[in-house]
Amino acid sequence: MRYVLLSETGPSVSRLCLGTVSFGTGLPRAAAFEQLDRFYERGGTFLDTARVYAAWLPGGDQASEKTIGAWMKERKLRNRIVISTKGAHPDLKTMNVPRMEKAQVSRDLEESLKALGTGCIDLYFLHRDDPAVPVTEILGMLEEFRNQGKLRRYGCSNWKLERIQAADREARRLGYEGFISNQLLWSIADINTAGIGDKTMVAMDGETFAYHAASGKSVMAYTSACGGYFAKKRRGLPLSPDLETLYGGPSNDALLARLPAWEAELGAAAASIVLAYIMAAPFPAVPIASFSSLAQLDQGLAAADLDIPGDMLEEIRRSRRFLCP
Ligand SMILES: NC(=O)c1ccc[n+]([C@@H]2O[C@H](COP(=O)([O-])OP(=O)(O)OC[C@H]3O[C@@H](n4cnc5c(N)ncnc54)[C@H](OP(=O)(O)O)[C@@H]3O)[C@@H](O)[C@H]2O)c1
Repeated sequence: MRYVLLSETGPSVSRLCLGTVSFGTGLPRAAAFEQLDRFYERGGTFLDTARVYAAWLPGGDQASEKTIGAWMKERKLRNRIVISTKGAHPDLKTMNVPRMEKAQVSRDLEESLKALGTGCIDLYFLHRDDPAVPVTEILGMLEEFRNQGKLRRYGCSNWKLERIQAADREARRLGYEGFISNQLLWSIADINTAGIGDKTMVAMDGETFAYHAASGKSVMAYTSACGGYFAKKRRGLPLSPDLETLYGGPSNDALLARLPAWEAELGAAAASIVLAYIMAAPFPAVPIASFSSLAQLDQGLAAADLDIPGDMLEEIRRSRRFLCP
C-alpha cells in the first residue's frame, strides 16, 4: 500500500478509500468485518461513510457508521484508521430542501460520533450545500466544531465549483485551513448525465479538474469503480440497466476496446486500472470504491500499487469528456 497526503497538514491516508455504503445492510456485519480486516491487513487506513448510510432501507439508519464503530472497537483500531463521514444531507423525502442550520449539522455530527464510537471525526464532509447560506457562516460553524474537538478537518461534497472557490477565498481571508478535500462523482468513465438519478450530486467536469490541478486541493472520487462497468463488461458479466444508462456510449466503448491491451501490458485487471487512473491525477486524488466480495476488494487493493505509464494516461485523458449531456 502507498499513502497520500490529503492536504499539506494531512491526514496521510491509503491511496484507496474503502466505501462502506452497504455495510450492515446489503453487506451484513460479518462480511463487512471480513472486508475491513482484509483492507486493514493490506495497509488500508481510509474509510468513507456518512450518517445517512443507509437510512433508505428498513433498519438501515446509520448502519454503516455503526458497523465501522463496532469493528474499530472490537479490533481496538480507532487510532490507526482515518474516518471520513458526512452530515448536512437533506431528508431523503425532500432532497431539494437543504439542512445546513447549525442545530441540524450539530445533531448529525453528534449522531455520527456516537455511532462510530469516537470523540472526534478525522475528516468531516458537508454532504450537500445550501447556496442560500453565506460561506462565512458555514466555515464559522465548522471551525466551532473543530475548536470543540469534534472534528479535525473538514471538506465539501456535491458543492458547485463557484461555491468551493468562494469558500476558499473566505478561508484564506479568515486564516482557516478551510475545505481540505472535495468529494464528488468521478471515475475514468464518461457519464451520461441523464443517467444520474439524484440531481443533487455534483460530478467532475473539465473546469473542476483544472481548478484542482491549479489549487492542489485533494479530491475523493465516489463511484470511482464505475459500479464495475468496465470490469464486468470485460468478463462478459451481466450489467444492470442503470449502469448501461449511466455509462453506455461511444467514448466508453472506445476505452473498453483498449482495455485488453492495457491489461496485458500492466499485468493488471481492468478493475485495478480503472481505480489507478484516479490515483494518477495531477493533484491528491483518492478513489472511494465499494466491493461486494473479497475478490473485488483484492483487485481494488492492487490498484494502489499500480502506476499507469504516461503515454497511456495521456491517451485516456485526451479521450475523456467527463459528462455527456
Ligand atoms: N459523497 C457522496 O455523495 C457519495 C455518493 C455515492 C457514494 N459515495 C461513497 O462512495 C462509495 C462508492 O460508491 P458506489 O458503491 O456507489 O460506487 P462504486 O464503488 O463505483 O461501485 C461499487 C460496485 O462496483 C462493482 N465492483 C467493484 N469492484 C469490482 C470488480 N473488481 N469487479 C467487478 N465489479 C466490481 C461492485 O458491483 P456489484 O456489487 O454489482 O458486483 C460494487 O458493489 C460509497 O460506498 C460511498 O462511501 C459518496
